[in-house]
Amino acid sequence: MDLADLLEIAETQRTKQKPTRVHCCTSTGCRAARSLEVLHNLKSATEAAGLQDQVEVVGVGCSGFCGRGPLVEIDPKNVLYEEVKPEDAASIIDTLKGGTATATQGDLNHPFFSRQLKIVRQHSGKLDPESIEEYIAVGGYRSLYKALYEMSPAEVVEEITKSGLRGRGGGGYPTGLKWATVAKMPGDQKYVICNGDEGDPGAFMDRSVLESDPHLVLEGMAIAGYAVGANHGFIYVRAEYPLAIQRLQKAIQQAKKYGLLGSQIFDSHFDFKVDIRIGAGAFVCGEETALIQSIEGGRGNPRTRPPYPAQSGLWECPTLINNVESFANITAIIREGSEWYASIGTEKSKGTKIFALTGKIRNNGLIEVPMGITLREIVEEMGGGVPDGEVKAVQTGGPSGGCIPASLLDTPVDYDSLMAIGSMMGSGGMVVMDQTTNMVEVAQFYMEFCRGESCGKCIPCRAGTVQLYGMLTRLLKKQATQADLEKLKDLCYMVKETSLCGLGMSAPNPVLSTLRYFTEEYEALLQPPAYLNGKVTAGSVENSEL
Ligand SMILES: Cc1cc2nc3c(=O)[nH]c(=O)nc-3n(C[C@H](O)[C@H](O)[C@H](O)COP(=O)(O)O)c2cc1C
Ligand code: SF4
Ligand code: FES
Repeated sequence: MDLADLLEIAETQRTKQKPTRVHCCTSTGCRAARSLEVLHNLKSATEAAGLQDQVEVVGVGCSGFCGRGPLVEIDPKNVLYEEVKPEDAASIIDTLKGGTATATQGDLNHPFFSRQLKIVRQHSGKLDPESIEEYIAVGGYRSLYKALYEMSPAEVVEEITKSGLRGRGGGGYPTGLKWATVAKMPGDQKYVICNGDEGDPGAFMDRSVLESDPHLVLEGMAIAGYAVGANHGFIYVRAEYPLAIQRLQKAIQQAKKYGLLGSQIFDSHFDFKVDIRIGAGAFVCGEETALIQSIEGGRGNPRTRPPYPAQSGLWECPTLINNVESFANITAIIREGSEWYASIGTEKSKGTKIFALTGKIRNNGLIEVPMGITLREIVEEMGGGVPDGEVKAVQTGGPSGGCIPASLLDTPVDYDSLMAIGSMMGSGGMVVMDQTTNMVEVAQFYMEFCRGESCGKCIPCRAGTVQLYGMLTRLLKKQATQADLEKLKDLCYMVKETSLCGLGMSAPNPVLSTLRYFTEEYEALLQPPAYLNGKVTAGSVENSEL
């Protein structure tokens, strides 16, 4: 395969495409609402109407408006149908001959769509994720070619550094700096790992990228391999994501067949193969050192850092580990240049971020927005606000993040601003809560999650999360006093400061942020020291199982 071959595949695919494409989402969310039946009926209706020469019905990935799935979009008519039932399919095809559809038509001019800026998700919901030719037709694998033939590895690293891209897995570590560290490490054997574990409750961004545009991630990984000097990559995906795994497997096979993965890619001296590793669905396995142990076949327990994976990772070799969305940004940066990328977003948070907008909100789904957009713009304009009532809080960053009160909705969404108000960007879960939400219950929910997911290796997290959960439960049962509340805070700081890995270090965040912004809800639950008919004193409570 050389550039001429790639361009020929693109051209053949483009000429093969029919003037009208009917896109039906076949990603997990819409599948659960019978989109495969919709797809089947759309295809039969097209044949029955004799339109098969002009109309192509394509099963595509997720376009983002998952809360209203199954979605069907007609391209280039720019018409969207929501909550389509299998029995609506024939009428949708009928509209191509002037008929009327029985399905509800969506508004593509709504801010949910118009305020988005799609870089990573540019082709999600438009391409058949199981066709490498469709990916190549929209410019796929050109960035890999450009990197291999027009740039040195050091220039690729430099370009990623200048773009200002920061890791989308939660921590926001500068991607270029990480690549540069791995690139400079000595040794012939290095690895690239794509972290697709995605265990935060409410998050499904990475799954959607893998299901909708798997080649985008593979191409990003291959470019990374070239830049840092690695010839072997692993994608770690949790077993609960079977469709993502299946599409990745297919994509890897297709790329190998065309010589875009494997030996001598594009007839160059660069070899890069990718293997999939399936995780058993433990949140802690998303932590990089635990993930590495899991790939090595061990129990997914984190270990102390340093050494960082960049220095000594998989099988003690220098290892580059990045998130799915981080890799999915790479082809655009190489194609359009770092200056273009750095012009999007804020001073310290460049580019776009995908959020899973869920909870008490009218428009549920995935959005990709430029960094710096405010929470209010996301929640009220794009999300359409709370269906009944008002926003009370927005939880960002999942179990590691915090709850932001409605009074701070004008905060810009970027790594540093969210951190400054006691939350964090995290991987992109964004849960909207209304006035009926009990914030102490929210804190208890996240603590219950962390308690269950703690690997147990270090005591502050293993015992601390259990104790914190117990304290919150007793508070909610109205069995705690002011002294207990003080203990709750102290324990939060102790667990944060002494845990071994990020899970324990951030587990108290939802408690601390709700304590900070919703203190009155905690205080309303407090009891006077001698709360049980004067029989139990505050002292005895302090010494009890709390
Ligand atoms: C408990 C825990 C779970 C994590 N889960 C994920 C995850 O599912 N996906 C991810 O990319 N990063 C996750 N991370 C962060 C990774 O350890 C790592 O920082 C990240 O994959 C690096 O990629 P990035 O620089 O592209 O963000 C997790 C961290 C912790 C502490
Ligand atoms: S902080 Fe929690 S998850 Fe991390 S090593 Fe300690 S026990 Fe395990
Ligand atoms: S899963 Fe169908 S639009 Fe997201």
